[in-house]
Amino acid sequence: MASTGVYGLAGLFCATAAGVFLLTGAPTMTKLSSYDPQVKELLSKMTLDEKIGQMTQPEQDGLKDPADVEKYFLGSVLSGGNSDPKEGNSLQAWTDMYDRIQRHSRNTRLGIPILYGVDAVHGHNNVLGAVIFPHNIGLGCTRNAALVAKIGRITAEEVRATGINWAFAPCVTVPQDERWGRTYEGFSEDPQLVKTLGEAAVHGLQGVSLSDPLSVLACAKHYVGDGGTTYGSAKGGKGLDQGDTRVDEATLRRIHLPGYVSAIQAGVASIMPSYNSWNGVKCSASKRLLTEILKQELGFEGFLISDYNAIDQIDPNYKTAIGVSINAGMDMVMVPTKYRVFFDDLKELVHEGTVPMARIDDAVTRILRVKFAMQLMDKSRSPIADRGLHKSFGSPEHRQVAREAVRESLVVLKNEHKLLPLSKGAARIHVAGKSADDIGNQCGGWTISWQGQSGAVTPGGTTILAAIREAVSKQTNVTFSKDGTGATGANIGVVVIGEKPYAEFQGDRADLSIDKDDLAAVTNMKKAGIPVVVILISGRPMIINDVLAQGDSFIAAWLPGTEGQGIADVLFGDYNPTGTLSFSWPRSMAQIPINLGDRNYDPLFKYGYGLRY
Ligand code: BGC
Ligand code: BGC
Repeated sequence: MASTGVYGLAGLFCATAAGVFLLTGAPTMTKLSSYDPQVKELLSKMTLDEKIGQMTQPEQDGLKDPADVEKYFLGSVLSGGNSDPKEGNSLQAWTDMYDRIQRHSRNTRLGIPILYGVDAVHGHNNVLGAVIFPHNIGLGCTRNAALVAKIGRITAEEVRATGINWAFAPCVTVPQDERWGRTYEGFSEDPQLVKTLGEAAVHGLQGVSLSDPLSVLACAKHYVGDGGTTYGSAKGGKGLDQGDTRVDEATLRRIHLPGYVSAIQAGVASIMPSYNSWNGVKCSASKRLLTEILKQELGFEGFLISDYNAIDQIDPNYKTAIGVSINAGMDMVMVPTKYRVFFDDLKELVHEGTVPMARIDDAVTRILRVKFAMQLMDKSRSPIADRGLHKSFGSPEHRQVAREAVRESLVVLKNEHKLLPLSKGAARIHVAGKSADDIGNQCGGWTISWQGQSGAVTPGGTTILAAIREAVSKQTNVTFSKDGTGATGANIGVVVIGEKPYAEFQGDRADLSIDKDDLAAVTNMKKAGIPVVVILISGRPMIINDVLAQGDSFIAAWLPGTEGQGIADVLFGDYNPTGTLSFSWPRSMAQIPINLGDRNYDPLFKYGYGLRY
């Protein structure tokens, strides 16, 4: 551990049978507006160019010239899902890239350091060798806020090891329809659980204070109603992602807002408005949502960062889109490549009087508050990466916490004749299925690349097959075939099936039934006449009827990440499962959308279901 205080927050929480409670309340975050005297002084020295620069966030590999950080006085840079350093993907290269870009900010007249943002949504997931935690859907099934806070702390530490100081997390979406490709980014379909775990994640990422060198700025996303879009309202009349959330304001507040209320109470200092619309109006264009509700009513004092090219969807004329979004309350714009155009257009909009100077000053004030709170303006503190943290990057200690998260996230849905826990002393266990020996499938989307990928995508983790081999006795023979053939003579079969990696709109699906190949692997195993455990790797509940009937035991493992031993812990009874569903499990596609509180609620497995041994 790099410091003894790293897990201090976990002590704030207390787990009981009934749930998890904050013992001593949230750590007292200094109000961001308390930095306003310093901010005002700095703002008074700034030119319009310098102010607009603070509001501009290009992507690292979209920079035409690294010196543009100086020329455009950039306030921030991001790495999106496919934005590796040009030297390749390594801890070293990421750190060098961050330092190089940050150094440019020091050459500007005012020397205001940049915020560097990255999608650290389940660990520092773009960087090879980082520990990859379960995606939020699995964490929801743990119901363990202290654990979620701990994961946030470790993620912050691994992000900081590369110098990066901002994570686009937590996602406090409340997915209402499993066909959505981002279902796994949400903790739960239940706003109350999202509220509790979102708050814990903010505490973990931001720590007790934003000025802690082991904290990162957190970002609650995607505001608001991203998980509530109407099926068929997305681009081209298909799917859900980036579509239209057609609900009245009371419903929006009841389902989709609570996560933001608690994140703001927890001190979250940035929020990302969403791609989706609310009743036909893009969130990024809605003054009602951004200014009236978030800033005025909820008292949010931090800043808003738009989503990747999201403001482009407001109007075909880019300049018009910029004006509408900034006037609605957007403070910083994620403009991966055309940042020069954005810069010039916004300047013109100010000169023309379309965007009032007061709005620019408000946006920059909000950004600078956060920079002061993070002590980025403290000349005695270097914004350059602390490479001492490389030592704990992807460390066994960090992996141990991920392993605990995995075993707590698993939900046992079926266990006939008490097949589980399996004996470590069985003579032979046959393992099968396309995801039994595949770290990439275990991790899902947002892993090393935006969409994720099957195969050995990152070093250091343990596949489920490897974890089983590690767990059993010396005498046990563990055999493997992808398609489930060759199981004859084994005592037990374990089949690992499910979804291959995807992210965002590419994961929207009209049909969530199990693949033919997966079904065949289970059927082949059953032909050997042995008891079979089915493990499902997926970003959401799927239509499992056939495999559920064939499997003697069934475990929903979600997208567990790199630490497959957490699955072996449950299989062999080193951990008595505690995970319970954070989503209702549908019987058929016709039942979707299905959510807690529906009239005639009759899922295959209810919200909260989960067996123990
Ligand atoms: C996603 C965000 C993400 C951003 C930056 C967008 O496409 O919607 O969740 O933070 O890209 O990668
Ligand atoms: C980027 C992601 C981003 C997505 C938006 C990808 O190319 O890598 O970060 O979320 O585009 O569509």
